Amino acid sequence: PGDSAVLTVDTGKPGATIDPNIYGQFVEHLGRGVYEGIWVGPDSPIPNVRGIRSDVVAALSQVKVPVIRWPGGCFADGYHWRDGIGPATQRPAGINAAWDKSAETNAFGTHEYMDFLDQIGSKAFVSVNVGSGSVREADDWMRYMTAPADSQPGKERAANGHAAPWTVPFIGVGNESWGCGGNMTADTYATAFRHYAAFLRAYSGERAKLIAVGADTDDYEWTEKVMAQAMKWRPNPTPLAYNTERPLMWGLSLHFYSFAGNDWRNKGRNIGFGTDQWASALARAHLTDELIRRHAAIMDRYDPKKQVAIAVDEWGAWFDSEKDAPSQLYLESTLRDAVIAGMSLNIFNNHADRVRMANVAQMVNVIQSLVLTQGAKMVVTPTWHVFDLYKVHQNATMIPVDVQAPDYVEGAVRLPGLSVSASKDAAGALHLSIVNLDPAAARPVRIDLKGGAWRKASARTLTAATIDTRIRFEGADPFVPGPLPARLAQGQVALTLPSKSVTLVTVE
Ligand code: AHR
Repeated sequence: PGDSAVLTVDTGKPGATIDPNIYGQFVEHLGRGVYEGIWVGPDSPIPNVRGIRSDVVAALSQVKVPVIRWPGGCFADGYHWRDGIGPATQRPAGINAAWDKSAETNAFGTHEYMDFLDQIGSKAFVSVNVGSGSVREADDWMRYMTAPADSQPGKERAANGHAAPWTVPFIGVGNESWGCGGNMTADTYATAFRHYAAFLRAYSGERAKLIAVGADTDDYEWTEKVMAQAMKWRPNPTPLAYNTERPLMWGLSLHFYSFAGNDWRNKGRNIGFGTDQWASALARAHLTDELIRRHAAIMDRYDPKKQVAIAVDEWGAWFDSEKDAPSQLYLESTLRDAVIAGMSLNIFNNHADRVRMANVAQMVNVIQSLVLTQGAKMVVTPTWHVFDLYKVHQNATMIPVDVQAPDYVEGAVRLPGLSVSASKDAAGALHLSIVNLDPAAARPVRIDLKGGAWRKASARTLTAATIDTRIRFEGADPFVPGPLPARLAQGQVALTLPSKSVTLVTVE
């Protein structure tokens, strides 16, 4: 083992509540993400409930998915919601224009998405079409989903099988409007957002929270301009119609992907990579912290009360696809994905005062993935195991941790050797999630607990034989977290983290 690390946890200095929506997901009509991955149809031999596959629902229910963003992604700004309602046989056969121009049957539409949410126990986050749609189309969709049963849209919804209005707590106002969602400048988007915001609302139930399109990676100018122009109501709108005390937007998005190569055309290998590409991918994941700090610093100037959330509504590991259909964005998951997920979620937890939504890209069969399917077979990925370990952080209080640990150094890359976040749950238990980035060195760790009286400690850890150990559809799952010895004595916990691992320590 390498030199020891010391983590100091002061439970007397609690931070913000960790919003469960940080553990949100994203599903898009892309590759096998929806069709096969979620939707197999009611007549499929694959066990399903109303066409939605039961194995996938069972796996996702276990990790407590709070919210699911749909229908895209780039797909959202070409999606016309009316194509996806009504009798299945009468829905138009479309084309997935955003991706591989494959057939879009529209078999999975609004009703099927809402059914999927109900089966998993998740909330809705619908991205409306700004790029090729209209304010009217988006408002009509909100009416269709949320208006009371005795209204005209409610009657149409009832005729299609669902009388009661649905709750739509989150609306994404476009997606990547700086790119596939409309090629807009920040000024143009800010104007479009203000226009949509005047009309987008829920017609029953919970107030809908609007999420504006935010920056790609380090586009700080976008954040500056959208915050300056689109955050606030004009000084004197009709006061009875609007609650002008609150900003126009609930959240501002951030999209950021971790890859190992130099740029989007060279994202690095997904399997069969060496420690150089392990390190470069982890360096990029680590950048998430700086991105959030710098975007948040800009937001602080316009919104010192932190009313506007950062919604990292697309994040994940994205490498070059080694499969025949690269546009399907299917990747075999490896241990590196788990480490990137563990690091990213720790960063979101540690910024819980501003980050109140995050949606991993994506949920099934696309890029990072929590679940992979192959016909009737299904496996959970290393990322799924990280979400399962980390679910204890949902709704818990963030606790700051001072980390003294040797750096992980690989060639020109130098990174903090451990990524850590901690929280205290409602029952008083303390949870620390710790990622050891080093691909070769185990790390002895001492955790100094300040405040509280502690009786016992336990730990579970996820690792694998090699840095690119990958998921397989046959045989035992190599990523199931195993118990790790943790000794508690006199307010200190001692344990040794395996190399390349994600560990959850619980102290009660
Ligand atoms: O997640 C895949 C794609 O990445 C999304 O459709 C798009 O928003 C982003 O560029």
